[in-house]
Amino acid sequence: MESQAQDSVRRLIVLSGIRPTGPLHLGNHLGAVRDWVDLTNRGEYDCYFFLANLHMLTTRSAALHTEGKKSGVDPKELYDDQVGLVLDLMAAGIDPNKALIYAQSTIPELTELMWLLATFTPVSRLEGMHHFKEKKGKLEEEGVGANAALLTYPVLMAADILGVQADIIPVGEDQNAHVEYARDMARAFNREYGDLFPVPDVWQTKALRVPSIDCSGKMGKSHPEGSVFYTDSEKVIRQKFSRAVKATANPPRTQSDWRNDPGDPATCNVFSFFDLVGSSEDKSWAEAGCRGATISCGECKARVAVLVNEIMAPIRERRLSLETDIGRAQAVEILHEGGKKARGRVQEIVTRAKEMVGIPAF
Ligand code: TYM
Repeated sequence: MESQAQDSVRRLIVLSGIRPTGPLHLGNHLGAVRDWVDLTNRGEYDCYFFLANLHMLTTRSAALHTEGKKSGVDPKELYDDQVGLVLDLMAAGIDPNKALIYAQSTIPELTELMWLLATFTPVSRLEGMHHFKEKKGKLEEEGVGANAALLTYPVLMAADILGVQADIIPVGEDQNAHVEYARDMARAFNREYGDLFPVPDVWQTKALRVPSIDCSGKMGKSHPEGSVFYTDSEKVIRQKFSRAVKATANPPRTQSDWRNDPGDPATCNVFSFFDLVGSSEDKSWAEAGCRGATISCGECKARVAVLVNEIMAPIRERRLSLETDIGRAQAVEILHEGGKKARGRVQEIVTRAKEMVGIPAF
């Protein structure tokens, strides 16, 4: 790890963020949050987990605004989502006494650092980022345009990471390019002004992109029917999988005459869930059953639903028990306390960065 060479005494820092856009889902959980819990519980790292509420605002459409329309981001809903997200993280198993939980917006120095990093960044690098192109394309399909913050999204992400001198970044596979860019920013700054930023590493127990149940790409909050949320009951999980879209390529197996219609698991979206939530026995059962037409698609989907529910049930129960006025008040307090501590660290580092650049607070 490049970062270790810089400072062998301090504890390594784990950092990751998540946008408060509604309840967490299985994709967030398997891709990232599960690793956050594990890394926190190891007790070896200083852990920083934050609500990326400034990043969340990039979903606003500048084009709508120019036409004099409202963006659809409701401040009251956003507030509730942020508090709810803290409860989601606690339900997943993150202990706020062991990790700092805070909101990005509590630390204005991050946007100062973002500005410094933006001066190292060619516009073409940002325009070429897959995430930007994809989101911009989707907005344009809906007849609206991307705002400037969407373009500079990775610069703020790099500031989130470098602002606490983070070493280890547990994220889903879709964030790899963003972390790669943050690594480049650390190197660029260090080359120009001297060593300040460790070069962070992505952390993935397994590089994951959990697909949407309805075959609409990766699981995400914008496709509720294709996502399993922390709050979904066992019945809802079963229903969502029973309606799951199976085939990604070949025509799906027939339901009425399934005994005479063997399938091809390699092209089945439902089958791909066995890799994510099943044991090797579960996977072999489904593979042999599908190829040999000894099980129906309904049986296969029901088995996946059971496996998913086994993961979600304890989280769902904890989440329900946290959903009280007291629980919500505690979540706000956690954000307040976490924010104070995280901001203290960022202030120190950004002050140093500004001094190195030659723009101290005169
Ligand atoms: P966000 O809110 O989109 O997602 C939060 C985390 O969940 C992972 N994830 C998935 N993993 C696998 N399969 C899926 N279907 C899936 N959907 C989401 C994401 O990879 C992510 O780890 N830009 C970030 C937030 C952020 C951040 C940062 C992260 C802002 N600054 C600094 C790390 C470091 C985001 O929007 O994540």
